[in-house]
Amino acid sequence: MARRLLLIEDDPIFLKRLQANLRAAGFRVEIAADGRSALEKLKTAWFDLVVTDIRLPGVDGLEILGRIKSGQEGLDPALPVVVLTSVRDVDTAVRAMRNGAADYLTKEAEKQEIVMRLERVLEQSALANENRYLRAQIEQHSEFRKMIGESAALRAIKDEIADLAGQDVPVLLTGETGVGKELVARALHRTGPNSAGPFVDVNCGALPDENLLLSELFGHERGAFTGAVSLKRGKFELAEGGTLFLDEIGDMPLEAQSRILKTIEGLQVTRLGGSRPIEARCRLLFATNKNLEQEVEKGHFRQDLFYRINLLPITIPPLRERRDDIPLLARFFLEQFREKYRKPLRGFDEDALTILRAYNWPGNVRELRNVMERLIFRSKAETITAEDLKRCGVSLVPDQPLPVAIPEGGLSLDEMERRLVIEALERTDWSQKKAAALLGISVDRMSNRVKKYGLTHSSWRIYR
Ligand SMILES: Nc1ncnc2c1ncn2[C@@H]1O[C@H](COP(=O)(O)OP(=O)(O)OP(=O)(O)O)[C@@H](O)[C@H]1O
Ligand SMILES: [Mg+2]
Repeated sequence: MARRLLLIEDDPIFLKRLQANLRAAGFRVEIAADGRSALEKLKTAWFDLVVTDIRLPGVDGLEILGRIKSGQEGLDPALPVVVLTSVRDVDTAVRAMRNGAADYLTKEAEKQEIVMRLERVLEQSALANENRYLRAQIEQHSEFRKMIGESAALRAIKDEIADLAGQDVPVLLTGETGVGKELVARALHRTGPNSAGPFVDVNCGALPDENLLLSELFGHERGAFTGAVSLKRGKFELAEGGTLFLDEIGDMPLEAQSRILKTIEGLQVTRLGGSRPIEARCRLLFATNKNLEQEVEKGHFRQDLFYRINLLPITIPPLRERRDDIPLLARFFLEQFREKYRKPLRGFDEDALTILRAYNWPGNVRELRNVMERLIFRSKAETITAEDLKRCGVSLVPDQPLPVAIPEGGLSLDEMERRLVIEALERTDWSQKKAAALLGISVDRMSNRVKKYGLTHSSWRIYR
């Protein structure tokens, strides 16, 4: 495949000669006679290499180099730039090298030398690209490895993270406490376009005072309020070029919400007590364990902000709805903590595994992790048993006694169910919907039971 090269040179005679030589050496050469038109070409077309004269009318070679290396305006900072100088101007060439030029050529150089040096730059650039690619792959892989779980739900989330890789879109993560929202946020940052920048998180629900939160987010000028003794940079500024993770966004006070909305719309902020807007370019990620739709209805959350951040919601289901992940996670934490506490542990016995799987985990993965740490810290044996779990508060026998006791001779579950269904129907004036709610089952399931036990009621006939 021919290598595409952009040649920027204002001396038409030298330009023609070099262009011909490079074409003869197999390059596809585009030309530009000044900096401005060169930058236009760089934004719209794709090149493997730029060769630029340093002295140019208007935007000069060093400035073109600087713009490319800054990676702004859609320019690719990895694009190699070779500068052309005259022998008398080696100082400038050295400066260009310090600013990221891949090499420099003197205009007096021999044709073969020029071609050889450009080939070498291209080779190095290909290697660097490959390195970057491999590093990204490794990072992505290790990030996913840390996210344990093979349930359909978790695999769908991992796929979604992979699909979003490299895209600067805001994402709203929802789910109960401890399901892994922050873990997913970090994975999104690491695979996102700003992964080289910082990951900055703010707990929007942690600060009791609205002003404290605002100054945390936007910073303040010296003397903005009593106690503001020095200038403070806000998290928006600190996240510049990276990702800002607004955690517990559902707990953010309303005044702060409207400031956030304005910021999202313009992506410009002013410090408290300040007037000059500060550019803040960062990716935004949000998380909450609240149901934001309900918060909107209750008037606790701005509807316009909700629409703004809810473009791409990812919901992480609670652990009890993806029980296949439990043994994998338990194993993962076991390995982690047995190393930390240097224990001879091998695994779980069968009863312990059954309980781990069947337990409801109201605190989700965080609870599982904490339980495992406590267990392993205390353990002296090689296997973890159901007894050990019980001592850590993990047990299937509920604290409250069951509302029905099993008699000596046992009972028929079907008969039990039939009686409960009838009782529920009687109590709700034979409304299947209400009876279903009373028993915590779906209307479909209720109507199945009604059919199964051949139940009818006079009030139902109207609907036939
Ligand atoms: N799939 C997973 N694999 C490995 N570790 C996990 C996984 N999910 C969660 N964890 C771990 O569980 C703990 C809780 O996760 P995290 O802090 O991301 O939860 P959260 O949803 O942000 O909770 P909260 O709403 O309480 O802030 C962390 O230690 C995290 O590393
Ligand atoms: Mg969290």
